Amino acid sequence: MEIFGDIKTLDNLPLTKKLLMSDPKYYEVSYAINVHMLDDKGDLKSVNQSDALRQWLNLKREFQSHGLEVEVVPAKPGLPDLVFTANQSLSLPGGKVLLSKMKSSQRAPEVKVLQTWYEENGINNFYQMKNTFESMGDLIWHPGKRLYWGGYGFRTEKSALEEMHKVTKIPIIGLKLQMEEFYHLDTCFSILDHESVAYYPKAFDDETNAYIKNWFKNLITLDEDEALLNFAGNCYCPDGKNVFLQSGSEKFEKTLRNFGFNPVAVETSEFIKGGGSVFCMKLPLFF
Ligand code: ARG
Repeated sequence: MEIFGDIKTLDNLPLTKKLLMSDPKYYEVSYAINVHMLDDKGDLKSVNQSDALRQWLNLKREFQSHGLEVEVVPAKPGLPDLVFTANQSLSLPGGKVLLSKMKSSQRAPEVKVLQTWYEENGINNFYQMKNTFESMGDLIWHPGKRLYWGGYGFRTEKSALEEMHKVTKIPIIGLKLQMEEFYHLDTCFSILDHESVAYYPKAFDDETNAYIKNWFKNLITLDEDEALLNFAGNCYCPDGKNVFLQSGSEKFEKTLRNFGFNPVAVETSEFIKGGGSVFCMKLPLFF
């Protein structure tokens, strides 16, 4: 692991209530760039389009009924993973936007679609990342503070975390990922509030585990099946209370309740076939 910047004194940063999602009209699994996209026989998983649309609309509705505002980027044919808006861009307090450098050629054109959407919405302050960077797939915002936890090893490069720190001056705690099933930090590490984290320890080495344990007061370790098959670590807590998560993770839901959180279970099974769930399907906006 590596820390970029000074984390001794952290400035406050208010929570945002605005999210960006993308219409799932052309969502499918038409290539495999993570292990979740293939079935046991090594074939591409097949997506049920109408189920995917229903699940996406329900997730959007749940966000809205919990006080969040949702903006939508229109779908583009040929860009099935556009629906995972956590990845193509990073909206920063003050209105600046970092444009990602996607690892795969299949997803690279998505960045331009996002740039156009921002331009149409009056945002013109862009920085194009030079090192491979998949935004909030590998960046978890520390709620209420000017601090990010970053992941590197499979998608985002460690050098990109350094680049991002240089450009934004926001400190980043970089964690190395070590299991291909948990290829993005947001698949195995979710900060619920400033003192609580839900994570899958085996996705990190010993040094990183010790660091995480030392930082947070409340440590929720995820069950293997719930983390791996149900993407429990891809949950999203926008307000320190409600935790949106894929349904079916009984153990995790029980633990959340014990810690005083309110689990909001949703169905995202069609998107898990693409390697993402709740956290990947939205991007917090700071304008
Ligand atoms: N198929 C997409 C990919 O492999 C899924 C992205 C999921 N997003 C995330 N933030 N984990 O890039």
